Formats: sequence, structure tokens, C-alpha cells
Amino acid sequence: MKKILVTGGLGFIGSHTVVELQNAGFEVVIIDDLSNTTIGVLDKITEITGTKPDFHQIDLRVKNDVKNFFENNKVDGIIHFAAFKAVGESMHKPLDYYENNLGALVYLLQEMRDRKLDNFIFSSSCTVYGQADELPITEKAPVKTAESVYGNTKQIGEEILKDASKAHNLNIIALRYFNPIGAHPSIKIGELPLGVPQNLIPYITQTAAGMREELSVFGDDYDTPDGTAVRDYIHVVDLAKAHIAALERLINKNNKKGFEYFNIGTGKGSSVLEVIKAFEKASGKTLNYKIVPRREGDITAAYADTTIANKELNWKTEKTLEEALGSSWKWQQQQ
Ligand code: WQD
Repeated sequence: MKKILVTGGLGFIGSHTVVELQNAGFEVVIIDDLSNTTIGVLDKITEITGTKPDFHQIDLRVKNDVKNFFENNKVDGIIHFAAFKAVGESMHKPLDYYENNLGALVYLLQEMRDRKLDNFIFSSSCTVYGQADELPITEKAPVKTAESVYGNTKQIGEEILKDASKAHNLNIIALRYFNPIGAHPSIKIGELPLGVPQNLIPYITQTAAGMREELSVFGDDYDTPDGTAVRDYIHVVDLAKAHIAALERLINKNNKKGFEYFNIGTGKGSSVLEVIKAFEKASGKTLNYKIVPRREGDITAAYADTTIANKELNWKTEKTLEEALGSSWKWQQQQ
């Protein structure tokens, strides 16, 4: 049985990926520093799959702790989620973001180099494209100057991976996520935003649950059909399955280059107003919202051209926006 290290494995996307890895027959070992999640997620994963993953609470910024882990754990692949991911916060704490998102990445790659480990999957983001010139966005779209420190850590992370792959013959895939939403059908794991949610869906579900007064829609003067910004919202379970497909590509040595990257989205764009309407349909709730000025740094529209990922990973999304929003609402009602 192949053993896979999942860093950030108790987080939102990480925990859903651990479930799919176990479902696919992999043994999983999780590293998480619990800075943005709770240890209870480990029991929930165990309830879903019946198998408790091995867990180590490690801060990947501590080089010695990373080294000690690999002294005692031989793995056949690494899926690296652990990172800070709040776009707004990253502008006020750039050095924390560079240290955690890039320092830890380098320590992991050094261990792979020194111990001849291989097969690395990196959590990247469509943020690297900024506002793309053409829609839908293909992998050929140019990477633009990042609008945020967070986005820059993803861009620099990909550069580090490209150089490490070339110099040390490492097989690496970066998955450029569009907007992950939803919760596992068991409703035992989902998104746990700490504090006031920055992202649209948790803010919607907390408003519908009466925890927030009303949703502020950030601008309706964009150059889009209804004036509100468009994004590609992908169910987190579909996103998790893309990681299994990418890992199997590497393990089966079907990758065509040492460093590859793929756009992981549904291929469909939805505006904020369309999401609100779909949420009301999925939940049966009427949502309180008001239009306010645009949010600094937001782009008009982004949705993926998934042709390459569909073909090369033999993967495509199966769940609809309504299913995702319905699972988010059920998850919110559990909180
Ligand atoms: C979606 C849309 C907002 C909140 C970010 C990161 C990206 C990834 C996903 C980490 C936008 C609008 C939002 C609200 C609103 N994160 N909105 N009212 O900004 O597309 O992407 O999160 O990997 O890297 O950049 O996602 O959910 O914040 O916003 O109107 O209260 O909803 O303007 O159009 P975003 P989001």
C-alpha cells in the first residue's frame, strides 16, 4: 500500500483529499500545525472512511522537525496544502506569508532531494493569472504580476518547484484551483472559516443562518451580464479527486514533463447574483443582501478551460453548483 504525506491534511481541501486518498486505497500520514483547523477533523475523517490516518502536529517552518519527520517516515508521495491563504491578511503580514508558504516548501523539497523521495503535488491557485486577457482561462494564459502577497507566494512557489524538478529530477504537479466550495456529502467535514469569512460562500451560509446581518455584494458595475463578478465555483470533493488523479499520473510515471500544472475548475462561470439565486433554490432560504462598492483587488471574471486537465488527468467535475451550495448549507446548519 503506497503511503502519502498530506500537509495541511486537517484543513478544508486537505481533509477532503485525505478521504479520497483512503477511498482510493492509499495509506495516509497527515502533518498539520492546527493553526487554521481543529484536531476534531481527524476523528471526522475516521468516521467517514473507518481508517484513522497517522497524524503529526508539526510546524513546517521548523526545519529540524521536518527533518525528524522524514527520519522516521518514508513516503511514496507528498500532497502539500499547508499554507496561509487569506488574501487580505497577506497584505499586512507579507513576511509571515513568505516564511510559511515558501520556507516550509523549500524544507520539504530539500528532504525529497536528500532522501530520493518523489511525486509532489502542490496546491496552487488561479490567482496566478490575475485578470486573464481571454476567457475561459487555459494553462497557456500568462502568469501576471500578483495582486496580493498570497498570490505571489503561489507564483514563486511554482518557480521553486520548476527549478527543483529540473535540478533534482523530481516529478511535480501544481494544481491551479479556481474557487473551492461545498462540503462532504456525509456533512462531517467542510469549510471552517475562523472569524469573519472573507470568501463568498461561508458568508452566504452564515447570513442565511442568522449569524450575519446581510451579505454585501462587492460591486454590480463589472463588465459582466448582470454586473456582478464571475468565478468558477468547484465542489471540494471534485477538487479532492483531481489530486488523486494527479498523484496516480506521477506514480504511474504518465507525466510528460518533470514539472506540470493544470487548471482545476468546472469550466463554468457564475456571477455573485447567480450564486445567490442558486443558494436560495438549494436551501429554500431567502438571502438578505445589498450591493456595495467593489472590493479592492478583485478581478472581473475567471473561469477555467478544463480541456487539458480532463484529458491528461482523465478527470472532470461531476457535481453541480446547486449540489455544492446545498452541501454548504447543510454543513452550516451542523455548526
Ligand atoms: C468570490 C466573489 C467577491 C465575499 C479568493 C482567493 C483565491 C482562493 C479563493 C485561496 C468575488 C464576491 C465575496 C463577500 C462578495 N483562495 N464576494 N461578498 O476572491 O474569487 O478568490 O478565494 O486559495 O486564491 O483569491 O473568492 O470567495 O473571496 O470572492 O461579493 O462577502 O464573491 O467580490 O467576486 P475570490 P471570494
